[in-house]
Amino acid sequence: MKTAFLTRLFVVASLLSLFAFSATEKREHSKPVDAAQYAGSDACMACHEDVYKKQFEGTPHFQTIKKDGHGCESCHGPGAEHVAGGGDKTKIVRFADLSRSEASKRCLECHGQAHAQRNFGSSAHSGNDVGCLDCHSPHHAEVERQLLVKAQPELCYGCHASARADFARPYRHRVNEGLLTCSDCHNVHGTSALRQVRATPGGDAVCYKCHADKQGPFIYEHVPVKTEGCMSCHTPHGSTNPRFLRVSQVNLLCLQCHSAPALGSSGPAHNQSQKYQACTMCHPAIHGSNLNLAFMK
Ligand code: HEC
Ligand code: HEC
Ligand code: HEC
Ligand code: HEC
Ligand code: HEC
Ligand code: HEC
Ligand code: HEC
Ligand code: HEC
Ligand code: HEC
Ligand code: HEC
Repeated sequence: MKTAFLTRLFVVASLLSLFAFSATEKREHSKPVDAAQYAGSDACMACHEDVYKKQFEGTPHFQTIKKDGHGCESCHGPGAEHVAGGGDKTKIVRFADLSRSEASKRCLECHGQAHAQRNFGSSAHSGNDVGCLDCHSPHHAEVERQLLVKAQPELCYGCHASARADFARPYRHRVNEGLLTCSDCHNVHGTSALRQVRATPGGDAVCYKCHADKQGPFIYEHVPVKTEGCMSCHTPHGSTNPRFLRVSQVNLLCLQCHSAPALGSSGPAHNQSQKYQACTMCHPAIHGSNLNLAFMK
């Protein structure tokens, strides 16, 4: 009894898959084996016309129809059974049921080789269970370009309150005004650098991308600019100092490395009277100079 039933089931199943096989074979001549379970995006449109017309057709992912022919099903998985079940929810990949990392894995099947996203797995975001869908939404993006759930910087402030506080300081990069974005300096998809900070294409500090005049080379380099980098004196986000210094007054910064007693071994005696507090009045070429050893011009 049991074997007869199984045999019959087997025959029916083979016939069915044969039928499905030849149907898809006619349509696209590729990957016949998995194609058997795919219904094709046109089938999805029959019941999900709104999603198709309003949340798919006009988005970059419409290209997935051309690229591998699977469209909707390239993210939601093969949907033939879902269709046959009249929309059985348990027979289709629902992102609401996936963990963040499972969802990201599906996205990375296509985006994982791209230069920008390929380090995602080792990013601070991925490591802290932040996934693609915390920032992107294929169907409900508020920002069409890049399919972001929200525009920067609000997108980032939602999770990074301290960055919001930094950019509320009196002097700051004008990120809130849209002159720069967080992602000008950070690669949110991960880099090998600390703090997910980008480098220039040449591998130099991100700051040089826009402040190339500070790069030199100079005949007289100010050593820490090269050895310790911009952040030894500046904060990257915002500051109470007009030049984004780590300290409120410039002399306090210089004195961290140039001890007061040592100053003036060759030049004037740099006592800490008013006259000598504004160090960069006399040493304006503080990032390096081609003319003067003491950065006086
Ligand atoms: C015969 C009509 C029909 C077809 C064809 C169909 N669906 Fe559905 N689909 C439904 C119904 C009904 C639901 C359940 C809606 C509900 O309960 O909220 C559903 C639910 C879904 C869900 C889950 C939505 C959620 O709540 O998260 C996804 C994803 C989905 N369909 C994708 C597809 C894809 C992809 C295709 C094409 C392969 C497709 N559907 C084809 C009728 C259909
Ligand atoms: C690039 C991957 C991708 C493609 C392609 C895609 N979806 Fe989705 N779909 C998602 C994700 C992710 C969600 C969860 C909601 C979100 O983040 O936008 C979702 C949610 C849904 C839902 C649940 C309701 C909703 O709007 O949230 C339905 C139904 C659905 N998709 C159907 C489709 C259909 C039909 C197509 C083709 C016309 C399609 N999807 C193409 C990724 C995709
Ligand atoms: C079947 C392959 C495929 C899958 C799976 C896929 N994508 Fe895409 N994605 C594409 C293609 C193709 C484009 C358009 C071309 C491009 O920008 O590379 C694209 C574009 C994008 C863009 C850029 C939009 C723009 O304006 O530049 C984002 C963001 C994106 N996808 C996010 C996602 C997310 C999030 C997921 C997972 C829910 C996902 N993708 C799954 C193929 C895929
Ligand atoms: C913390 C937020 C965040 C997360 C998490 C995130 N993205 Fe992005 N993504 C962005 C922002 C912001 C941009 C636009 C700026 C840029 O290009 O860096 C972007 C741009 C993109 C682009 C288009 C530009 C390009 O580089 O090709 C793609 C594709 C993309 N993301 C895919 C993904 C995928 C896939 C994942 C998950 C593996 C993911 N993103 C995770 C915020 C995020
Ligand atoms: C869903 C929440 C979430 C969103 C949205 C988000 N982040 Fe994050 N981000 C985190 C978490 C969690 C970490 C890891 C813990 C930490 O360092 O704060 C992190 C880490 C980082 C780091 C590394 C910090 C370090 O100490 O190494 C940077 C840089 C960063 N995020 C920038 C951004 C930017 C830029 C955006 C917007 C495009 C953004 N994040 C959006 C949650 C988020
Ligand atoms: C001008 C370049 C630049 C911009 C714009 C920028 N960052 Fe940063 N950010 C940096 C650098 C450089 C560091 C590393 C600081 C350090 O190592 O001392 C950093 C550090 C961080 C950190 C690590 C924790 C901390 O505060 O040190 C987070 C989180 C972060 N940034 C988020 C953001 C967010 C969110 C935005 C946009 C609202 C943003 N950044 C805009 C350059 C920038
Ligand atoms: C994407 C371009 C960009 C990058 C990258 C960038 N900056 Fe800026 N920076 C600007 C712009 C534009 C201004 C002018 C600000 C304004 O007018 O609001 C500025 C202003 C400044 C100022 C104040 C100048 C003044 O006196 O007004 C300092 C200091 C500064 N940046 C340091 C840095 C450091 C340090 C880094 C690296 C962490 C960096 N910048 C990265 C674009 C950039
Ligand atoms: C040794 C400390 C120090 C280091 C390191 C340093 N700066 Fe500065 N920077 C200063 C001081 C001090 C000022 C204010 C000069 C003034 O008062 O006019 C300044 C001013 C600036 C300004 C605004 C005024 C101008 O000259 O354009 C920018 C932009 C700037 N720095 C960028 C950078 C960048 C980019 C780096 C890394 C390549 C860097 N700084 C490294 C001390 C430093
Ligand atoms: C992070 C440490 C550091 C900071 C901060 C710093 N310097 Fe320097 N500075 C050095 C080093 C190291 C040298 C190389 C010569 C030396 O060892 O004294 C140097 C050299 C100099 C020289 C040339 C002296 C010579 O004999 O070659 C001058 C002038 C100078 N700094 C002025 C300043 C001023 C003004 C400030 C504040 C705006 C400042 N420095 C901040 C570390 C620093
Ligand atoms: C009124 C102008 C003036 C001010 C303000 C000033 N300096 Fe100088 N500084 C000089 C002169 C002049 C020299 C000698 C230059 C030479 O030898 O060519 C000098 C030389 C130096 C030197 C290198 C020689 C040495 O003695 O080691 C350092 C370092 C230095 N100053 C740091 C500072 C610091 C730090 C401040 C702020 C606390 C400051 N200067 C404020 C005029 C000034």
